[in-house]
Amino acid sequence: MVSQNMCTGKTAALIALGAGASLFFRGGKEQIDQADIESPIWGERYFLNRAVLCLTAGVSLFALGWLYKLLFCPLELLKAPDEVGYIAEDGRSRARAANEVRRRRKVGDLPPVYPNGWFRVLDSHLLERGEVKNVTVVGEQVAVFRGQDGKAYVLDAYCPHLGANLAMGGRVVGSCIECPFHGWQFDGNNGKCVKIPYAEKVPEFAEVRSWPSSEVNGQILVWFHCDRVEPQWTVPELQEITQGDWVYRGRTEHLINAHIQEIPENAADIAHLNFLHTPGIVSGVDLRYTKSKTWEFLQHDWKAQWEPESEPNKHCSKMLLKHAITVFGRHCSLLDVNVVARQVGPGVVFLQFEHNFLGRGVILHCVTPVEPLLQCVSHIIFYQSNIPAIVPKFILRAECTQFERDVMIWNNKKYISKPLLVKEDSAIQKHRRWYSQFYSKNSPRLQHQRDTLDF
Ligand code: FES
Ligand SMILES: [Fe+2]
Repeated sequence: MVSQNMCTGKTAALIALGAGASLFFRGGKEQIDQADIESPIWGERYFLNRAVLCLTAGVSLFALGWLYKLLFCPLELLKAPDEVGYIAEDGRSRARAANEVRRRRKVGDLPPVYPNGWFRVLDSHLLERGEVKNVTVVGEQVAVFRGQDGKAYVLDAYCPHLGANLAMGGRVVGSCIECPFHGWQFDGNNGKCVKIPYAEKVPEFAEVRSWPSSEVNGQILVWFHCDRVEPQWTVPELQEITQGDWVYRGRTEHLINAHIQEIPENAADIAHLNFLHTPGIVSGVDLRYTKSKTWEFLQHDWKAQWEPESEPNKHCSKMLLKHAITVFGRHCSLLDVNVVARQVGPGVVFLQFEHNFLGRGVILHCVTPVEPLLQCVSHIIFYQSNIPAIVPKFILRAECTQFERDVMIWNNKKYISKPLLVKEDSAIQKHRRWYSQFYSKNSPRLQHQRDTLDF
């Protein structure tokens, strides 16, 4: 779906260039023919007219392609790890600034680094039937593939035979994956080896770890539990998405240099909303400049409340958010938006929007731990199909701008296990107690500062 739309933009650009070029050359030929019989001055003018015409045609077609993309194609914003939330000063590159922060930062007394729960590994539309992809989740390499039966499977990426990566050149055969090294085949359902092309017998114990997975709301998720306990709850299906009332309108992806818990804790940190997120989105994401006087006339106003849910949904919590905009201090009620952010386990949040005339939709906000202090955060938006795509695309961009302000905080902060809180911050402690249910005795902890990877 996404690639098709991206192609449309590229095709339009190519058509524009092609049309421009053909008009130009046709014009040039005629100009030469006529130049034989007419004055050089007339010929030059004719040539110029043709060139302007070609240029106008090319630019118009290009603009049309761009407009088409803006109005109808899903938004795709995939940010590089060093692109957001770092300050590069004194001529240093962003990558260097990011690496220095990662090396020098005090991490604090961290909770375990990988909570138990469901984590998104891929969006469904990124995995075709018969395709396999390598994904890193909770520090492990997994091979995510879609069998010829259309089902998505997740297996450990390393083949138990001699350790080749099944996702790097492996081939999907039915519901199995075939290793690219010696051709052993593993069943996606349970990881059992079902075929060794050159052996008489397949040993009973030949298998690769199979991860519990689920595909829901256009996403493929895996279940992680440090003790390999089977899933204790499920990620609910949104009828509006599965029945097609809400359609896919775009996605964003960020890599964040922080402990996973910092990200959902934001929902219970009510006080930061009316400080960090007050400046209008036009003020940008660099916190050194968001409070600039130029855009002061435009402000966001937030009212929020966070509560954990009770049994049988104690793995869920809910944030009720009322958003308003003021221009020169006057409230514009037309832009009021109500949001319900329901968190399901440690890694998935449903942000449901409701607006008086701009309709309804949801942003699925997913946090997947890649490394102990590296989180892949994706936002994917589904919106009422009868609302022009530009509306949800704008909502996603606005959300992304506000989110990137948090990223600048997360990328540079230290985790404080005993924070200095005031009464008004009480939801933060409540959130920490609620989140602690996702850790168990054997949950992996950060052993030592192994953060030496360069971007
Ligand atoms: S390493 Fe996979 S079949 Fe040999
Ligand atoms: Fe925030």
